Amino acid sequence: MTNKFSYDGLFTEKSEDLPMSVVEHAKYDFAVAYPAPETLPMDGLVRALQVAVDARGDEIARQMAYYPHVKGSPELREFTSYKLDNDRGFNVSPDDIVLTNGSGEAIQLIIHAITEPGDTVITEQYVYGGTFNQLKKAQADIVGTPVDDQGIIPNLLEELIIRLIKENRNPKYLYSIPEHQNPMGPTLPLERKKQILEILNKYSMPVIEDECYVDLRFEGQVQPPFRALDDSGIVIYIGSYSKLLAPGLRLGYFVAPEDLTRRAMSFRHGSGPNLFGAYAIEGFLSNNLDAHRGKFNPLLKQKKDAMVMSLEENFSGTGATWSNPEGGCYLWLTLPEGSDICSIRDDIFNEGVGYLGGTNFAPNNDGQNCARLCFAFESPQKNKEGIELFSHLLKKRSIIKN
Ligand SMILES: Cc1ncc(COP(=O)(O)O)c(C=O)c1O
Repeated sequence: MTNKFSYDGLFTEKSEDLPMSVVEHAKYDFAVAYPAPETLPMDGLVRALQVAVDARGDEIARQMAYYPHVKGSPELREFTSYKLDNDRGFNVSPDDIVLTNGSGEAIQLIIHAITEPGDTVITEQYVYGGTFNQLKKAQADIVGTPVDDQGIIPNLLEELIIRLIKENRNPKYLYSIPEHQNPMGPTLPLERKKQILEILNKYSMPVIEDECYVDLRFEGQVQPPFRALDDSGIVIYIGSYSKLLAPGLRLGYFVAPEDLTRRAMSFRHGSGPNLFGAYAIEGFLSNNLDAHRGKFNPLLKQKKDAMVMSLEENFSGTGATWSNPEGGCYLWLTLPEGSDICSIRDDIFNEGVGYLGGTNFAPNNDGQNCARLCFAFESPQKNKEGIELFSHLLKKRSIIKN
């Protein structure tokens, strides 16, 4: 037996001893952040890749033999430029787009480029855990701005900025998920977006606009992005193919002013992301974008409706409230003030219902009485049954009343 080499004493201060996250599924899994595997267009993606190789095999082999362009596949950037123009109403050249290993990498690169330790950053009151962790890693001073069922409330955002400035915590930028916000679900209407841009311009604060869920709309009206309302460079735009197609493809992107792009890219070591995934996405979506959304989003709506209906049946009269999003994957459950749904998460998981407690998303250290429920993964029937069981388990513990 050889002695094990010990790295104790070699680790950097920056490194953290985090547990590897192993995905465990509860019987009713509302904790995950993705749709059911059987809804992914696997055949379509494989066919698209085959068609591309059949048509341009030599060229693809040549590209695959080298490392990808530092900004990623030219074909997928071309398609992304078309999609942004067509779907989101702003025109950028493929050269302005950087493909990333999922939009998570885009968030990381941008945060690295513009965040010094101690910088104050404003997010929605509750914020996507991945961004929250990146900001914590960058040692940002993270502050959540109040949100209602339409997202950020502009006058309260301005009040917060003024208060932070008075406290010598000049906020540096805003990070926002305007469409189907993760974790709460609301979509920011156009009028509010205009007001928010005015405020941001007044205080010289850029916004990182994360439109990860924009393709997952099943009702209501899609709103123009901040990026389509402002061409001055104050908006840094982030998108993803994870929620539209599959997180396993690991392809997202960002669009930023050139100087910021160069700084952000200085944190990328090596080349752009996986080319095979890019060929499959570009080939599939060039011919099937609307058909895919048309097939997939009505299914999401059925799942959301089943969960909302079950919440109405099982949580009405308990003092609980919940959001009713027009798209995305999540709704936000709020129990009466003073209740604690976070500390019992593991027990409830063991009894069959998985969810994430509000404190996971809370820069202001609140959210003990809140939970994020993903409606996208389970079937409508399981959404219905799981919420029924959830209410039973909460009633058994007197967290909500009959
Ligand atoms: C709001 C938001 N942004 C970005 C991401 C990162 O997704 P990906 O890296 O798969 O594109 C997620 C994932 O859940 C998300 O919810």
